[in-house]
Amino acid sequence: MYLPLVYDLAVDLGTSNTLINLSGKGVIVREPTVIARKKKSKELLAVGMEAKKMLGKNPEAIEVVQPIKGGVIADFDATAVMLKHYFEQISQHIGWLPRLLRPRVVAGIPGGLTEVEKRAVQDAALSAGARRALLVEGPLAAALGAGIEVIRPDGHLVVDIGGGTTEIAVISLSGIVVNRSLRVAGQTMDQAIVKAVRLSRGLLLGEATAEEVKINIGSAATLEKEKIFVVRGRDIGKGLPRSLKLKSAEIREVLAPIIQEITAAVADILEETPPELVGDILQHGIILCGAAGLMPGIDQVIAEATKMPVGITEAPQDAVVRGLAKLLANARLLEMVRLKRGLS
Ligand SMILES: Nc1ncnc2c1ncn2[C@@H]1O[C@H](COP(=O)(O)OP(=O)(O)OP(=O)(O)O)[C@@H](O)[C@H]1O
Ligand SMILES: [Mg+2]
Repeated sequence: MYLPLVYDLAVDLGTSNTLINLSGKGVIVREPTVIARKKKSKELLAVGMEAKKMLGKNPEAIEVVQPIKGGVIADFDATAVMLKHYFEQISQHIGWLPRLLRPRVVAGIPGGLTEVEKRAVQDAALSAGARRALLVEGPLAAALGAGIEVIRPDGHLVVDIGGGTTEIAVISLSGIVVNRSLRVAGQTMDQAIVKAVRLSRGLLLGEATAEEVKINIGSAATLEKEKIFVVRGRDIGKGLPRSLKLKSAEIREVLAPIIQEITAAVADILEETPPELVGDILQHGIILCGAAGLMPGIDQVIAEATKMPVGITEAPQDAVVRGLAKLLANARLLEMVRLKRGLS
């Protein structure tokens, strides 16, 4: 059996999902970014999917926390505790010596973070037990994960639509040429569904139910076969439970302004991109990733608005963690792209 002396973890600490890749083993953590703890003692009760199931159903004494908001650490302790839980779980998979030496961690971060916000990601990984914590810009990792040779003088446009952020970046020569990080993504869509169903149908839905609606019948362009989804919620007038049939066409209308905002930002970035790189992007096509990139028709809408071909990466929700794992296997490239300014 091959027992490495050190072990490396690639961590995509997303607003909705946390993915961790153990080098040589693959993605071994894929859980919602949620924890549940006792309010007073802060004792950890559940992590990941177990905790997500408690959202909106918890008694007073328990708090269910989503520690990342808009791609940024909003609750440091909850983030560190969650990572520690996963790191300890992973350490069971490896030999005692590397466990003693602790892991080297590389994490992806969204664009536009302040030095303090970046430092928080690094500190969370260190206090969770990492020996070293390196940071890489998320879109660069996503491009690598999409199979792009980022080192070449060749322009690529990556659009990563996640839960809390949409990252749009033009990449060339292992660097980000222009980028924008919008706080408009999957969760914005869930909130828009909650609001629309409350206003137009008088039914109160939880955000988790709205997410189910979006995943089951949400779309950006007309579907070949329109769909129906039945939800249960609380009637605003009577205060009693009621079920309701929602149609894909009405959900599409609710989502349209959000998708429009994302599309407009992609078009803006293209306007800011040097013409030589625009030529490259036209040739390669826009790369779409992030789990929200799975929404039917979103590629089509972006393609129509930008007049550019758009391709969805294979397993788009894994692009960032896949790219980070590739970096851990390529020390020279990692050294070149890891963030250094103001960080050790
Ligand atoms: N099939 C689907 N169709 C539409 N949206 C989806 C689908 N599957 C997942 N999503 C949405 O994708 C979002 C999560 O995407 P992802 O896991 O890439 O985000 P994240 O990396 O955790 O967040 P971020 O990168 O914004 O910090 C959620 O809002 C989820 O509801
Ligand atoms: Mg993400």
